Amino acid sequence: MAENGSRPRVIIDCDPGVDDAIALMVAAAPTAGFELAGVTAVAGNLPLDDTFRNARSLMAFLGKHDVPVHAGAARPLQRDPVPAIHHIHGWNGLGGLELAVPASSARRGSAIDHILEVCAEGPVTLCPIGPLTTVARLLEEAPEVASSIERVVLMGGAAFVPGNVTDTAEFNIWADPHAAAVVFDAQIEKVMIGLDVTMQVGADPTWIDALDEAKHRWGTAAAHMLRGYNSGSMALHDPCVPVYLDRPDYFNGRRCSVSIDTEESTRFGQSVANPDPQGNTLVLTEVDPDAVRAHVAAAILSASG
Ligand code: RIB
Ligand code: CA
Repeated sequence: MAENGSRPRVIIDCDPGVDDAIALMVAAAPTAGFELAGVTAVAGNLPLDDTFRNARSLMAFLGKHDVPVHAGAARPLQRDPVPAIHHIHGWNGLGGLELAVPASSARRGSAIDHILEVCAEGPVTLCPIGPLTTVARLLEEAPEVASSIERVVLMGGAAFVPGNVTDTAEFNIWADPHAAAVVFDAQIEKVMIGLDVTMQVGADPTWIDALDEAKHRWGTAAAHMLRGYNSGSMALHDPCVPVYLDRPDYFNGRRCSVSIDTEESTRFGQSVANPDPQGNTLVLTEVDPDAVRAHVAAAILSASG
């Protein structure tokens, strides 16, 4: 809750991506306990043109015409861009769900200007659920913005479990380790929602079928996307972020200092978490998967029309 007792203002930075799409549904649901003040797209699961298109079409589908959608970074700070992972998120990044695409006048790179405008109006909770390139550039170009960012609640990293791209690296960090290093080095309060918890929250077929059988517009769309989500674990990585914002009690963690390995080695992109009571990152390590799945389904099915 913001200092004046109003609902927290949240910006989600995403690379839709099926699990990003489910996270946007949860954040846009009437039951969300926060204000979704903006959505920004970053290159990651797919190139920026695709993630920006998907973010716009999703927000239009959800009826959130009042939520600005802007485009952020098109390529990592230093490393080569990562190849699109259509084999996981489907040919269009939404598991094959085809949505109308609204026109946009937003230009590339307008994400940083938008985040600065929202931060100028008051405290913001920044929720990156893709590579951290845009957030890193924001902190580098306008370091003073840190005073307006209450905390960064991110999906990314693997602290005490294996990675999902290499033995040690999780995709969002691996896709731009240099950007992740900027964010984790910044003196901003962070919550790291990594594979330590998200891999425990799988979307099983029965749970997906229930979304469809509700004969609900958002539920049917979510089921369509999830049936086209070819992640072995079917992990609901990104939706853990909006769920955490409303129900942190579903999770537990430990305060750590986190550093990112940016050396060209087998540990490239590793998020190294050292328990530290003075650390500026709460690393989540435990979760109630059933509670998170129930929260996601209830949020999706709470929308009217
Ligand atoms: O490792 C999982 C993360 O990588 C999620 O954000 C998913 O969308 C992919 O971007
Ligand atoms: Ca993502």
